Amino acid sequence: MIERTLVIVKPDAVLRGRIGAVIQRLEDKGLKIIAARFSRLSEATAQKHYAEHSSKSFFSSLVSFITASPVMLMVVEGNRAIESVRNLLGKTNGVEAASGTLRGDFSSSRAFNLVHASDSAPSATREIALFFKKSEICEYALPTQDFLFEQGE
Ligand code: CMP
Repeated sequence: MIERTLVIVKPDAVLRGRIGAVIQRLEDKGLKIIAARFSRLSEATAQKHYAEHSSKSFFSSLVSFITASPVMLMVVEGNRAIESVRNLLGKTNGVEAASGTLRGDFSSSRAFNLVHASDSAPSATREIALFFKKSEICEYALPTQDFLFEQGE
């Protein structure tokens, strides 16, 4: 089942020079980047993106953190991409994330956990629309596509 998901390489990963490591893992998994932009989020956009956490005690620090430097925004497509990317990231808290996952390998924190990825199909639809216009999404085929997963898988 082909899905799209939104990935944000957060300020901790950007400032630690780990954008390439994140992209490498996505590409290694056979996922396809179909849109990308390097951008500093406004406070209003960050609040919209994290609206579901607006009542939480950590909301203002979450917004401050995600707006602290530019971030790398990407739309990633692939077989069951939402679950696949979440598995590549590992658990929210880097201390608890399994080794081999991005957070497990690069993070020791719950707040500074390197990457955000959509957690469900409705979230992915909403988050992609928040950051990208339809015209910014590039449809193309990978030459390796036939060897990544079977039709209908
Ligand atoms: P993310 O996947 O970007 O989605 C929401 C973020 O909130 C999450 O990653 C964490 O970085 C952050 N977060 C979740 N729980 C807490 C918490 N208890 N304290 C601080 N930050 C949190």
